[in-house]
Amino acid sequence: MRLGVNVDHVATLRQARLGKEPDPVFAALVCEQAGADSIVAHLREDRRHIQDKDVHRLKVSIKTKFNLEMSVSDDIVKIACRVKPHQATLVPEKRRELTTEGGLDVAGNLDRIKRVVGILRRYDIGVSLFIDPETKQIDAAHKAGVDRIELHTGKYAGARSKKQQAVFLQDIRESAYFGREQGMRVFAGHGLDYINVAGIARIAEIEELNIGYSIVCRAITAGLETAVREMKELITR
Ligand code: PXP
Repeated sequence: MRLGVNVDHVATLRQARLGKEPDPVFAALVCEQAGADSIVAHLREDRRHIQDKDVHRLKVSIKTKFNLEMSVSDDIVKIACRVKPHQATLVPEKRRELTTEGGLDVAGNLDRIKRVVGILRRYDIGVSLFIDPETKQIDAAHKAGVDRIELHTGKYAGARSKKQQAVFLQDIRESAYFGREQGMRVFAGHGLDYINVAGIARIAEIEELNIGYSIVCRAITAGLETAVREMKELITR
């Protein structure tokens, strides 16, 4: 199973001071060195973390694949066509949400999504749709002309009990199976962490997981000891 690492929250920290550090492009190179199979970044319409220049720098700097998460807005589609990432993952976007809350309603917006898929494919960009694990959405994704989907694991990750989690896991399992049956490549992500990833990683039909927040959180806690030691040494020397 491949791992795509989302570097959005490295940029979130940088934007807190509007400075240069930490640099999501440098972080992406470290992720690649550590074994990441692709790098994911979401250019949000409100530019709250990743900026336009990051997207251009990621495209020319990384050695693996660049997966650009994006809404279907005309401005963002234009940028994607200029940057030409290896893959664009179409996601729904609401200004006030803290993170992508649900999957794209492909069934309810088929014409618009089909049009955007067509534009991106003309620029030789592979297109994936981030959808809830539902048969209706997988069918619609197929109609929209994509050959890959990413199943939203947010409900599974946020389940309040083991019983509820098992139900959501079964939905993902069945959707992954159904997606493969339709001839599509199946990816998954959102809210996955060092504990809940095990259940999803066991689903053979899923070929790639895209994970961001938990990895950036872990990096901060795992790296804090070194950071403090280095500073302490500098000021006592
Ligand atoms: N996949 C998609 C389509 C997403 O929108 C996100 C969040 O940006 C992720 C994966 C990663 O989610 P998380 O940061 O919770 O690991």
